[in-house]
Amino acid sequence: MKDTIQIAVVGSGYVGLVAAVCFAEMGHSVVCVDNDQRKVDALRSGDSLIHENHLPELLERYRNSKVRFTSDLGEATREAEAIFIAVGTPQGDSGKADLSYVEAVANEIARSLTSYKVIVEKSTVPVYTNEWIRRVMERNGVSQRLFDVVSNPEFLREGTAISDFLHPDRIVVGTDSEPARALLARIYEPLTNGSYYEQDDSIDGFRSSAAPPPLLFTSTKSAEIIKHASNAFLALKISFINAVSNLCEAADADVEQVARGMGLDSRIGPRFLRPGIGYGGSCFPKDVAAFRVVAEQLGVDFALLTEVENINADQKKRFLNKVRSALWTLRGKKIGVLGLSFKGGTDDIRESPAIELVEMLLAEGCSINAFDPAAMARAELVLPPGSNLRYMPDAYAVAHNAEALLILTDWEEFSHLDLHRLNGLMRYPIVVDGRNLYDPDVMSQNGFTYFSVGRPATQHVHELTTA
Ligand code: UGA
Repeated sequence: MKDTIQIAVVGSGYVGLVAAVCFAEMGHSVVCVDNDQRKVDALRSGDSLIHENHLPELLERYRNSKVRFTSDLGEATREAEAIFIAVGTPQGDSGKADLSYVEAVANEIARSLTSYKVIVEKSTVPVYTNEWIRRVMERNGVSQRLFDVVSNPEFLREGTAISDFLHPDRIVVGTDSEPARALLARIYEPLTNGSYYEQDDSIDGFRSSAAPPPLLFTSTKSAEIIKHASNAFLALKISFINAVSNLCEAADADVEQVARGMGLDSRIGPRFLRPGIGYGGSCFPKDVAAFRVVAEQLGVDFALLTEVENINADQKKRFLNKVRSALWTLRGKKIGVLGLSFKGGTDDIRESPAIELVEMLLAEGCSINAFDPAAMARAELVLPPGSNLRYMPDAYAVAHNAEALLILTDWEEFSHLDLHRLNGLMRYPIVVDGRNLYDPDVMSQNGFTYFSVGRPATQHVHELTTA
């Protein structure tokens, strides 16, 4: 028989909503709380609010039954054995994480607590947040016997969030309390004992009953640091390969070959070695900054993190210069932009390098036609359409009459465009690819002058022979 646990999840953003439906998928009973009544209403009526694979299907399966939505935190926590806090921790002053939402939730939980609960931080938070939550509870007069605080960081990526949650590399549980440890072990048991993967309709992924995910118990502080350190390390890997790509450009080498050669070393690994226009999104920029500030506050010199941030910022400027050198001058140029989200597979534009580049190009006086398969509605809110910026229905409409085409997001569909058709539509067949989606030789055979990241530029074949 299934061990069903009553869970409250506070926050219905990426992490909260995904955790809520995935806990239901694992057999638990979940109440998901958000203080935005419009979001609650939308979720109740089946609108998943974010573009995420498998989310509509799981929401349809469980909404208003195994996952209920409410704006009443008191009601949600009353029956729950575990309360997962998954609210935002935006970037505050000078990179510090703003924990005011976490604090507000802790205050509210404290006011409605009448029996023992395990409070679990799932939001990405700096080390010591656990202690702060504990202090907030105690300040509100809650006895220490009535709660434990656990750090259970989440490592899901946007776009593949559901399968990342259900097929994790590892599950980290940081706590010093035995009852809390036992409860978290029960919550994740369908994954750790492999039974979930035996279910007929389980979501596909790389885990199986023969290879279930490991559950790692640590101290609360270690778990908090694991999350920040993991994100910072991945960001470092990206900045490293971006710096190497600059070197490759200077030396006339090919960064894709270099990355392949490095990635085959099992100690390095091939993932997160894709050069581009810099990392973005709601996590890496914020988390690297927050980790840097935590180190500063603890008196530790972690200058490497500042360098990771500097390389990332430079990468966008370098790309802009590449466009400039491809076109000579930018003012008045008609440029096509493919991609606005911070990476392919998501409609999220937070800290998107693509959005930043569009802003830079507009400031230089370019006229832009842009297309993104999912992020245009969100992009229009921060970059309203006007005489210099138009949103187009597809990649070919963007190419029409363009003096250059820029690829800014690694959407799968941008990697197999009809090159012949594209070329025929453009005013000048110049492509500046910030995500290395194409083979330079194929581009030149198709008549393009092609610039990418960390690889020699290739000229349109005809130009080469007449030069
Ligand atoms: C990231 C982490 O990968 C997750 O493990 C973590 O849980 C999450 O942050 C979080 O803290 O919530 P996510 O922000 O969804 O996930 O995006 P990633 O797939 O990691 O990509 C981040 C950025 O790096 C994107 O702009 C992407 O284009 C860029 N990137 C990624 C590269 O430029 N090169 C690469 O090789 C990989």
